[in-house]
Amino acid sequence: MKKFFALVLALLMVVSLAACGGAEKTATANEEKPELVMGTNAAFPPYEFVDDNGEIVGIDAEIAKAVADKLGMKLTIKDMEFDSLLTAVQSGAVDIVFAGLTVNEERKQSVDFSITYATGVQVVIVPEDSKIKTVDDLEGKMIGVQAGTTGDIYCTDDYGQDNVKQFNNGALAVAALQNGQVDCVVIDNEPAKSFVEANDGLKILDTEYVTEDYAAAISKDNKELTDKVNKAMEELKADGTIDEILAKYIKAE
Ligand code: ARG
Repeated sequence: MKKFFALVLALLMVVSLAACGGAEKTATANEEKPELVMGTNAAFPPYEFVDDNGEIVGIDAEIAKAVADKLGMKLTIKDMEFDSLLTAVQSGAVDIVFAGLTVNEERKQSVDFSITYATGVQVVIVPEDSKIKTVDDLEGKMIGVQAGTTGDIYCTDDYGQDNVKQFNNGALAVAALQNGQVDCVVIDNEPAKSFVEANDGLKILDTEYVTEDYAAAISKDNKELTDKVNKAMEELKADGTIDEILAKYIKAE
């Protein structure tokens, strides 16, 4: 009988030791999950914005999280100025940029782009009673833009630097429009809708300026990550995850 108890005790010890070891193992596995550091500029709703809890949320945050999950990585998001994002990914300060970032030839010289996941349109926000009716009326007007964005680039090319006022983010450009410092704001359509909703007396012109594609940017030195991200994004497109995320934040008209 004594022997039997001794055996049971020994067994119990072995089992509990194993359990402890197991718990320890999962804990280390979690800590060791490689990090995927995403850079963004979280003043671009609904693609990225800071919610009431101070967390960065939005379409890009959710797509990046879904990609990281597929790759077995832990997503960390860094908020920075829009015009330092590409340098950050080139220098390795971040691994990937998700920022409603438009694919263009000039940017392709410095970074690699993932497959595209959304479309953006540059639109014009004006006060409801504005004399500006179409894009053609922008000539000679003061245009507010977010520094370094494609909206900034097009307006500077088309209307000249003296007619373009750069702001650190879209919300500041819209505030300047409310103050009468600028006559209009050129920005991507979805953020434009959020800003117009949040501010009285503004509207978006019916005529669209330029249509573009959004993709993530990765360093040219990190082809392996680009391949993995593209594969994950293809899967997330195919199984409807990306569409679901877009539909969650963009209400159909
Ligand atoms: N699509 C525009 C661009 O790539 C604007 C992006 C701004 N994004 C942001 N997160 N603030 O230039």
